[in-house]
Amino acid sequence: MKKRILVTGGTGYIGSHTVVELQNSGYEVIIVDNLSNSRADVVDSIEQISGTRPAFEHVDCLDYAGMDAVFAKYPGIQGVIHFAASKAVGESVEKPLLYYRNNLVSLINLLELMPKHDVKGIIFSSSCTVYGQPDVLPVTEQAPIKAAESPYGNTKQINEEIIRDTIKSGSPISAIMLRYFNPIGAHPSALIGELPNGVPQNLIPYLTQTAMGIREKLSVFGDDYDTPDGSCIRDYIYVVDLAKAHVIAMNRILEGKQKQQAEVFNVGTGRGLSVLELIKTFESATGVKLNYQIAPRRAGDIVKVWADPAYANNELGWKAETSVEDTLRTAWQWQVHLREKGIM
Ligand code: NAD
Ligand code: WQD
Repeated sequence: MKKRILVTGGTGYIGSHTVVELQNSGYEVIIVDNLSNSRADVVDSIEQISGTRPAFEHVDCLDYAGMDAVFAKYPGIQGVIHFAASKAVGESVEKPLLYYRNNLVSLINLLELMPKHDVKGIIFSSSCTVYGQPDVLPVTEQAPIKAAESPYGNTKQINEEIIRDTIKSGSPISAIMLRYFNPIGAHPSALIGELPNGVPQNLIPYLTQTAMGIREKLSVFGDDYDTPDGSCIRDYIYVVDLAKAHVIAMNRILEGKQKQQAEVFNVGTGRGLSVLELIKTFESATGVKLNYQIAPRRAGDIVKVWADPAYANNELGWKAETSVEDTLRTAWQWQVHLREKGIM
């Protein structure tokens, strides 16, 4: 009998890649998604890749009764991976209440429903954004949590506190909070990838759309920072490597291998790359020239952040394996696929 896992936000970017890896590892997956930032045909693509069609429930995580009904419809769900959230930093500044409601209430609903349905544990999508601009790099899980730069970042900090407080209150559930750095790239099949609505806010989709001629040129937001080439530095992690970390974390919970009821791991490569370095790497890895310009700094940008992934490497036995060159090639192949399908 396959172990049943509920994946909220499972038709989204990271969620869809994680569903594939869960299925490849023998889990039975039920996806819940309200399709506010993804498409239902991602389920078809997941099936094409893994050979198994995950169950899909078009439900909003804010709908307590709807979520209760999903747990009742699929008895024996053992774990939850909670990707569902609103995640656009800029939008969160304009619409804070939308972000506080969506990102906090969706988690609260899950934490209330899990004990009711004997669900053992939850993996939560956190973010390196909780660290702000770290004082020491690379950043470890012990680094201080800094005042959030945006309502979005604040929801991640509050979510982590909600999980800890719930467990401290005696809840039987276990939790692993994964602090992602910058996920990029697409599945090697080019059947799933990042497909942001409207004008991309994140670097890689904007970069590949520029390379495809959809955008005229990429603006590099500042080259006058305190970094070797003046542009900001990030830890870009291949989304499939990130997805695999979720499978290992779920195994850890269900096999009772956790050392505390609530655990936190940095999920990054440990390698910092500047925006200008990334552009050069994209051009050399794909042979595609990129049209870009230096533009003014973007408000709220962290200058430099990259992970110390030693705890995840040693404790989870997980390591990011994919080179940034191979990762960028998958991002480009996904953009080519979108063009071939007439999607973009
Ligand atoms: P995404 O927008 O592609 O996926 C989120 C999915 O959740 C979408 O399919 C959306 O339709 C769904 N969703 C949103 N609100 C919902 C609700 N109330 N009920 C049901 N479904 C809902 O985003 P992503 O990049 O895959 O991010 C997944 C998670 O990882 C998010 O929690 C995000 O905050 C976190 N995260 C992302 C990044 C990143 O750079 N992409 C970095 C750190 C953390
Ligand atoms: C990366 C670098 C930009 C676009 C954000 C959220 C974070 C997480 C990941 C959800 C920065 C530069 C970007 C462009 C550019 N999301 N850039 N031109 O800001 O590190 O993180 O997404 O959890 O919470 O804050 O990612 O891809 O937006 O930017 O020069 O058109 O690329 O200045 O240095 P970021 P990003």
